[in-house]
Amino acid sequence: MSSIIEVNNLTYQYTDIPVLENLNLSIERGSFLGLVGPNGSGKSTLIKCILGLAKPQAGTLSMFGSEINRFSEWGRIGYVSQRANRFNAGFPATVFEVVSMGLFGQVGLFRFIKKKDRNKVYDALQTVGMENFAKQPIGKLSGGQQQRVLIARALVSEPELLILDEPTVGIDAVSARKFYDLLGQLNREKGLTLLLVSHDVGTMTKYVTDVACLNKTIHFHGTAHDFEADKNLSTLYGYDVQQIIHEHEEIAK
Ligand SMILES: Nc1ncnc2c1ncn2[C@@H]1O[C@H](COP(=O)(O)OP(=O)(O)O)[C@@H](O)[C@H]1O
Ligand SMILES: [Mg+2]
Repeated sequence: MSSIIEVNNLTYQYTDIPVLENLNLSIERGSFLGLVGPNGSGKSTLIKCILGLAKPQAGTLSMFGSEINRFSEWGRIGYVSQRANRFNAGFPATVFEVVSMGLFGQVGLFRFIKKKDRNKVYDALQTVGMENFAKQPIGKLSGGQQQRVLIARALVSEPELLILDEPTVGIDAVSARKFYDLLGQLNREKGLTLLLVSHDVGTMTKYVTDVACLNKTIHFHGTAHDFEADKNLSTLYGYDVQQIIHEHEEIAK
């Protein structure tokens, strides 16, 4: 397998203390990689480096075989950011308009949309099972539905790699599982390479093909099966989730 992203000895610091240090990671074409790590372990920072939004102080990063400074084909990468439910009830755009932003980068231009582009928007909506919501205002949808629309917006430019940073935050457990199912399907049926950052270790590892554990550097990178078989690792990296469940139980008492 060839790798889409190759990170070598990367170091990144906001202040004088590195947040990422000597980090090595390669993402293989066709894989569905789950990136896990405690709060503050550098997951979002690594994503920012991969998206070219943060410039590492040391190390190299190559995308689709080109060094990141020379890479310009950003349409090959789709990104869905951390915050779910970002559209409030009054947000002045329909689902169709939000997805068309994936083609034009701003709302408004949809008025001049060509038939070919209209079809692309509907295809992306169909992929995520939201084609019947095209004319609905985005703000009226549930968090899980909005997240599907954001996936459609990321897919409309037909990326080869889709990066998602904690996409299920604020979404109920049933919708989250459906969401992971959809991602698994995109990976298997469309050959889309996926990088998924998630806190939801227990559930997420059932859907991904590979897992990488991050805490300043990569401590493990292997198959989801090997991750789950290593009880020390799965306990250590699943700890946050267990703690949250525990806290909820405390509240329920
Ligand atoms: N803009 C910033 N300026 C300074 N420190 C930051 C900034 N963003 C994140 N950090 C710090 O970097 C560390 C890693 O953060 P982040 O990459 O967001 O972790 P994660 O996504 O794993 O929770 C944290 O200690 C965080 O406080
Ligand atoms: Mg984060």
